[in-house]
Amino acid sequence: MCGIVGYAGRRDAAGVLIDGLNKLEYRGYDSFGIATSDDGIHIVKKQGRISENGSSVSGLTGHIGIGHTRWATHGVPDDKNAHPHTCCTGDIAVVHNGIISNYAKLKRELIAGGHLFSSDTDSEVIAHLIEENLNGSLLEAVNDTVQILEGSYAFLAMSKDDPGIIAARMESPLVLGLGDGEIFASSDMTTILDYTQNIVFLEDGDIASVSSDKIIIFNSGNQVERAAEIVEWDAGAARMGGFAHFMEKEIYEQPEVFFNTLASVDDGEIIEEIKGSSGLRVIACGSSYHAGLIFRYMMEECSDIPVRVDLASEFRYFRPVSGELVIAVTQSGETADTIAALKQAQMHNCRTLAITNVLGSSVTRVADYTLYMRAGPEISVAATKSFIAQLAVFFQIVNHLCDGRYNYMDKMCHQVIEEVLLLDMEDAVSLCSGAGNLFFVGRSVFYPVSLEGALKMKEITYIHAEGYAAGELKHGPFSLLSKDTPVVAVCTPGNSRTAMLSNIREIKTRGAPVIGIGEVDDPDLEDIVDVLIPIPKSPVSGQILAVTVLMQVLAYRTAKVLGRDIDKPRNLAKSVTVE
Ligand code: M6R
Repeated sequence: MCGIVGYAGRRDAAGVLIDGLNKLEYRGYDSFGIATSDDGIHIVKKQGRISENGSSVSGLTGHIGIGHTRWATHGVPDDKNAHPHTCCTGDIAVVHNGIISNYAKLKRELIAGGHLFSSDTDSEVIAHLIEENLNGSLLEAVNDTVQILEGSYAFLAMSKDDPGIIAARMESPLVLGLGDGEIFASSDMTTILDYTQNIVFLEDGDIASVSSDKIIIFNSGNQVERAAEIVEWDAGAARMGGFAHFMEKEIYEQPEVFFNTLASVDDGEIIEEIKGSSGLRVIACGSSYHAGLIFRYMMEECSDIPVRVDLASEFRYFRPVSGELVIAVTQSGETADTIAALKQAQMHNCRTLAITNVLGSSVTRVADYTLYMRAGPEISVAATKSFIAQLAVFFQIVNHLCDGRYNYMDKMCHQVIEEVLLLDMEDAVSLCSGAGNLFFVGRSVFYPVSLEGALKMKEITYIHAEGYAAGELKHGPFSLLSKDTPVVAVCTPGNSRTAMLSNIREIKTRGAPVIGIGEVDDPDLEDIVDVLIPIPKSPVSGQILAVTVLMQVLAYRTAKVLGRDIDKPRNLAKSVTVE
């Protein structure tokens, strides 16, 4: 959830670290800090955002350094809990992403041994343990330290007396970038792609000794080789390029992303694995979970293979059935709950498939198979283009299993999405931005589409928005309806239309204003809703894309009217690497 970055080379380290932390800020943004080393360790750390306070750290000297941007888990966001954390003497500095689950016990033992702590974080124990173990090189001390740590970590450590950085990884992402006489470390490769595309993905248990021109990696005490991979992500894709927000830019990239992803899913072996399975079990969190729910409706309409969809965080309370293919869907490839669920499925002898956007991410190292989405780097915390890319993967899987029923999608997707991006939604935005509570309702596949719409709305506008199956509203939530509770209702042609029209009438009767989403030229719907947002005529697959994108735009424009921090909503972070 936090972002870490490191540098060893010929440049001024602080400049590289500030640049890296600015790019990493979407992973956590409640405090930040940098340590550099020349004739000693220099540290500046602060509550707040690097993007607003970068000048406070720019004066640090040295060609080696580490930095951190934080999403608080242990200890409130303030100056003292910001990273880097140091040992008692201040000669060792550490930045950490993850959670040290046995930190409380370790901290008690260290305090009993005379160590003085200055923060409430779990991470600080790492610095003190390294100090305790320092008997020779920093590398050896880190190696001894990780034997004691439990939990997840990607951390970078440096010491006053050591000429490089030590990087260690366990269940938390960490990559190294090989430049010309300089080496970069980061929890996220988008940070370093401006400098080099030559990336080494560290594996769990790896400890790397990093200097300006050399990396030596050890795992379980043995030296190991990790080949560098050329990553062809366009570094420019991680910049805003004239849009007001990354979210807006990423929404506009969706026609391309959907098309590219659709075209890339053609792995025959995986399709055969799916065909041969007794059932599919999708596990995911947040938006990725909603994509899985949509997949279930699409798949079960045309195939006999049953699909079950579980929240990854709840999966551990169920019993996986061997013979099922378990599909982990995760944009970042780093979501801790999803990876834990995947490992659990493997313990029950299930075959596993990962659907992810990030090359070499943790999930790809666990799953038996991987399908990549082609969304490119997604920076805004709210998932938009990655969600559309997940849908593209699922459409293509269904297509392969159901005799090419979506063969036409590649020709249609650009047009449908582009038409939605041009829609006027001013009346709907004005209704939403004035409300304290909203419902998003639909039936059939538009039920999970509505869940996603509500998530987007609440995530970036801070308006309470609930996604509901339209038929369920009368089983309780009707008591919440009033003229102050607008309901966004999806009513498109298809098997749910008649029931949906009845549900909308019931809602209207309770006094709630209705924003209807339906096809153009639908007088029945137009007559009963307060505001109609028309989508282009298309088959149901096109309707799914249209309504999804429309709801993203509705949330985006509402958040803009309310002046929200759209790309970095309060209390959130892009990838959730803690359970
Ligand atoms: O990286 P993942 O797809 O595993 O992330 C899962 C959720 O954290 C994520 O989809 C989250 O719900 C989005 N920020 C919602 O917009």
